[in-house]
Amino acid sequence: MIQSQTLSASGGLRGEITVPGDKSISHRSIMLGSLAEGKTRIQGFLEGEDNLSTLKAFQSMGVEITRLGEGILEIQGRGLHGLREPADVLDCGNSGTTMRLMTGLLSAQRFFSVLTGDQYLRRRPMKRVVEPLSRMGARIWGRDGGERAPLAINGGPLRGIEYRSAIASAQVKSALLLAGLYAEGETRVYEPHLSRDHSERMLGFFGAELQTFDGGVSIKPLPRLAGREVQVPGDISSAAFFLVAALITPGSELLVRNVGINPTRSGIIEILRQMGGDLQLHDERTLSGEPVADILVRGSTLRGIEIGGDLVPRAIDEFPVISVAAALAEGVTVIRDAQELRVKETDRIAAMVSELGALGARVEALEDGMRIEGVAALKGGRVKSHGDHRIAMSMAVAALRATGEVTIDDTACTATSFPNFWQLLAQVKG
Ligand code: S3P
Repeated sequence: MIQSQTLSASGGLRGEITVPGDKSISHRSIMLGSLAEGKTRIQGFLEGEDNLSTLKAFQSMGVEITRLGEGILEIQGRGLHGLREPADVLDCGNSGTTMRLMTGLLSAQRFFSVLTGDQYLRRRPMKRVVEPLSRMGARIWGRDGGERAPLAINGGPLRGIEYRSAIASAQVKSALLLAGLYAEGETRVYEPHLSRDHSERMLGFFGAELQTFDGGVSIKPLPRLAGREVQVPGDISSAAFFLVAALITPGSELLVRNVGINPTRSGIIEILRQMGGDLQLHDERTLSGEPVADILVRGSTLRGIEIGGDLVPRAIDEFPVISVAAALAEGVTVIRDAQELRVKETDRIAAMVSELGALGARVEALEDGMRIEGVAALKGGRVKSHGDHRIAMSMAVAALRATGEVTIDDTACTATSFPNFWQLLAQVKG
């Protein structure tokens, strides 16, 4: 067990905070900055462990990346064909985005590489990228017939394919788009619901030839990408913990500044508003092709709702904390179509049912979601993170409405996406 945190209930949360940079956009900025020609400067880069795994992987492939200050990086791009064979295995840590996107990119490089990760990542499914990439001509080997990392990749020439993904996954889509940058002909990816589109936006921003259409996206190979200035907005998935924390603690009034509100990510705002949450967007603007706003949130009485369909991919990382809001709402919340939660950093359905249940919440697992009956307050107790950053932070939010102390075990994992979470929480608790 690595670190634990003990928290107690809180009165209203007050003040103004800025959450760290968006994790998905930070990954993509390193990748495209490395593949571009010329300099890329990134501001607002999330210096969490997941993104540092991506950064180190590109350094191991010969890319010069300099840290100029907190969250400010300068990359000397090596061009689309300038990466070098890494001398050792690339360690993706806990980061599924690093592993899956890099599998796409490395499939097209004319060298050999191996990707591994921590005990959680080595359990997660990889065939979802290995299978379509193999159809493009990629040569990838992995444990369990290519389903689990470590993955060994013998990069080489690829051909464009048309792929209909059975799941709405930005990681699958992005792996294929990165491979498609190099493939012969066009690569087309269809998905059942639109997943986050940061890759499409950033590829376009760096000059790629990309077309989005109803139900999918296509890309054509091109000779070069051009280095850019990238400003990374605050991560709405990190803001989500504070949005729910403020909503469930009466008397709260909290301003979360500079949050990315890309429509493919902002499902949490819609869901919390449907539950009766008082959330207002201020100063809406665009940063490097991504919409951003300040979010003002006030303590609210929440009610249960039904969540499913295309709202699910737009809030996929927020279900642990949504389940906390639901556990304290009036009435019943039913979450469906969210079977992907079973293959995240941990099985997030099982984890939230067990940990919220330990604090007296009425939560039941469904195969593809949860059924949650709200209660007036939770009780104190000891819970665990399952090594999953979002479970740890969701349980910290739950503790704000518990009648006794809550101890959360194994909390070091929050550093993967939100290194200063505990300090910020202490700050708004006052
Ligand atoms: C991500 C995509 C999502 C999300 C993950 C980050 C990305 O995963 O859950 O945290 O940056 O592309 P899936 O593509 O597996 O849905």
